[in-house]
Parts: sequence; structure tokens; C-alpha cells
Amino acid sequence: MEHVDLLILGAGAAGLFCAGSAVAPGRRVLVVDHALKPGEKIRISGGGRCNFTNLATAPNRFLSLNPRFASSALARYRPEAFLGLVDRAGIAWHEKTQGQLFCDGRATQITDMLLDRMTGAELRMGTAVGDVAHQADRFMVETSSGPISAARLVVATGGKSIPKIGATGRAYDLARQFGLRMVEPKPALVPLTFAEQELALCRPLAGVSVEAEIAHGGGRFRDALLFTHRGLSGPVILQISSFWQPGEELRIDLAPGCDVASALKAARGSGGRTAVATALAQILPDRLAQSIAAELGLAQARLADQPNARLEAVGARVNRWQVRPVGTEGYRTAEVTLGGIDTRDLDSRTMQARNMPNLFFIGECVDVTGWLGGYNFQWAWASADAAGRAA
Ligand code: FDA
Repeated sequence: MEHVDLLILGAGAAGLFCAGSAVAPGRRVLVVDHALKPGEKIRISGGGRCNFTNLATAPNRFLSLNPRFASSALARYRPEAFLGLVDRAGIAWHEKTQGQLFCDGRATQITDMLLDRMTGAELRMGTAVGDVAHQADRFMVETSSGPISAARLVVATGGKSIPKIGATGRAYDLARQFGLRMVEPKPALVPLTFAEQELALCRPLAGVSVEAEIAHGGGRFRDALLFTHRGLSGPVILQISSFWQPGEELRIDLAPGCDVASALKAARGSGGRTAVATALAQILPDRLAQSIAAELGLAQARLADQPNARLEAVGARVNRWQVRPVGTEGYRTAEVTLGGIDTRDLDSRTMQARNMPNLFFIGECVDVTGWLGGYNFQWAWASADAAGRAA
């Protein structure tokens, strides 16, 4: 039987960061993971450039049954602290928009930095984790490299999103085993899918992107919307997917800041021979303008021939497009898992289970889910640091 002071399950963003915060002379810290390489999600994040934090991090950028839970950890480990590590490691970065910080080069630089930071701890990849038991104040963990006895156990195995790269939902089983409650997990930051009627509109537009605004369920976002073969994607859709419940209708403004009916009426006044589709194409991408005009039976119509009521219908179709998604693309493509371990059962300063001393849950497996834009990594760093210092 192997004995360690601290065993961390999961070598993703949270697990690696936690090891770095916990490592100390004379202390045996071990990280195990069933994948062959650490930080696989970091590698594919931010289109390969890793949006590693967001300067606008604040508790209101996160969804949770208890929105105040994340405040303590987020306040004690700020984006500026992570940025300091990035700078000291000599990793070049840039701010894209809205406080989102990305690497100039490869995302794997962040993983290398985390591995460097945890020097002194041991990392064991390709190690499957079996049964976990609690006996005589220690955690006994069966692994494919033999049984391990640990004084403290940190669970950092993430959520269920992207099973293809190792996500398992194992943290939820462990939480249940030790009597913690769960908030039902569901895919979030995920493309939305549609039934045939809307798909007939979306499919021919696949690849078209347009700036859109959507307010729904307490969230309001303005960003790019992308038509796909299965429905809608793009940052604005991923953001709103976290607020959307099955069965609900969305109202999408495809031309935020432009009252399309008024714009068309003005255009009719100054150049009535123009086609409706041509006038719409001044506001929307050409293919989308053509598609909407055709859908409303105005493919060949001239502005001059349209009464106000019809231009108002066109305006409503653009500024208040009502669609009812049938679902999401699911964990296969979801960037994160919403829900997870109920924060009522965790100490917000340390991430320790309230009913089980020396057991900690960090990162995505906890019911704290950030908006798109680097917030989820910031939660991984902050929750990992809180646990790493306490464990
Ligand atoms: P994470 O999933 O990173 O790590 C969990 C680890 O546990 C993995 O190494 C896994 O192999 C291991 N594991 C799982 N089950 C196990 C088991 N049974 N036994 C042993 N090991 C097990 N966020 C952000 O802020 N900015 C961004 O740019 C992006 N981009 C992005 C792109 C894509 C495509 C995805 C899917 C996600 C993002 N994210 C993101 C989200 C971000 O990647 C995510 O929130 C963090 O990786 C969560 O960190 P964790 O360490 O909690 O889980």
C-alpha cells in the first residue's frame, strides 16, 4: 500500500493547479488521471490558444443554485494573480474582447507552466481510479497502479462534457457516495439544435455568421451567431444555452441596435425601386437577407410596393425572430457541464465537504458554471487554490 499526504484525482486545469498550490517540502502530493496526457481540455481550449482568464471576473459571471458561493474563492484568487504566473513564465498573451485573455501561441504553454509550478508533486497518468473508501481517517483508493492511502483527497475529475477526451462524471458518483447532494448536471455552452421546419432555414445558411442579441432566462448577450447544419451556434448561442431550458422559445435580435422596420421604411422613401432583399442586405449578411426575403414571400418584391404592415413584419422577423430549439448537441460538444455538486455541501473558503473532513471537490464538477470567455478556467484556478492551500 502506497501512502501519500494528498491525493488529487484528475490532472486537468483544477487538479494541476491544486497540486501547485499544495506542494511543500516534505509533503507527498500525488496527482492521478486515467488519460495519457495532462490538461487535455486546456490543449483544445480557446481554439488552441486557451482563453485562460477574464479580467472582468465577478461572481455575477457564474451560474449556480447559490450565486454567492463562488465569491470567496474568486476574491482570494484573482485573474491578475494568474496573469502574473503567465508573465513570469514568459508566455505571450493578448486581450481579445471583453476582458478575455488568450495565449498568442499554443495553449499547451499553460499546461507546461502548471506542470512547472507543481514541481515536487508527482504526476501519474494512464492510471484508472477504482473504488474509494474511507477507513480510519484515511482515503483508500484502488487504482490500476495499486492501492493508495491518502490523508486528504481532492476530486478534480471535471464534468461530463466531451467524453471523447476523458470526461466521466466520476466526481458526481464520489459526491453521492459520500452523501453530498447534486444539482442535476446538463450540457452548457453548447450549440442548439432544431426541428425540421427551422432546419430548413438554417441548413442552407450553414457557415453564415451575424451579430445577434438574445435575452433569456436572466441572461442577455450580444455576440456572433452562427448558422450550422444542425441549428445555431456561435458565442451568443453558447452563452444563452446555459440559461435555456428544454421546451422554451428564444427571441433573437438579428440586427441589434437597428430598428429594421424603420430602416426599410426610410429606404422605401428614398429609393423605392430597390428590392426588399437588397435593402435588407444593407443590414444583414447577403445570404441571410435573401433567405428571409424568400421566407416571407418577398424574394422578388420591391420596397416601393410594400405597405407599412409588411415592412413591419420583415422588421419583426429580423429584430424578434422566435425559435424553439428541440435540444442541444449534448456533452459531445458542450464546453462545460452546468450543475454538479451542490455548493450547500461544500465550504466556500476551502471546497471541503461539510460532512466529510479532508475530502475536497474543485473545478467543473462543482455547481459553479462560468459564462463563455475564460471564466471557467478562472473558477478552476480559484477553487483549486482554495483547496490546495487548505488541504
Ligand atoms: P477537466 O475536464 O479540465 O479535467 C478533469 C481531468 O480528470 C481530466 O484530465 C480527465 O482525464 C480526468 N478524469 C475524468 N474522469 C476520471 C476518472 N474516472 N479517473 C481518472 N481521471 C479522470 N474554459 C475557459 O475558461 N476558457 C476556454 O478557452 C475554454 N475553452 C474550452 C474549449 C472546449 C472545447 C472545452 C470542452 C472546454 C473549454 N473550456 C474553456 C472549459 C474548461 O476547459 C473547463 O471548465 C476546465 O477544463 C475544467 O477544469 P477541471 O480541471 O475541473 O476539469
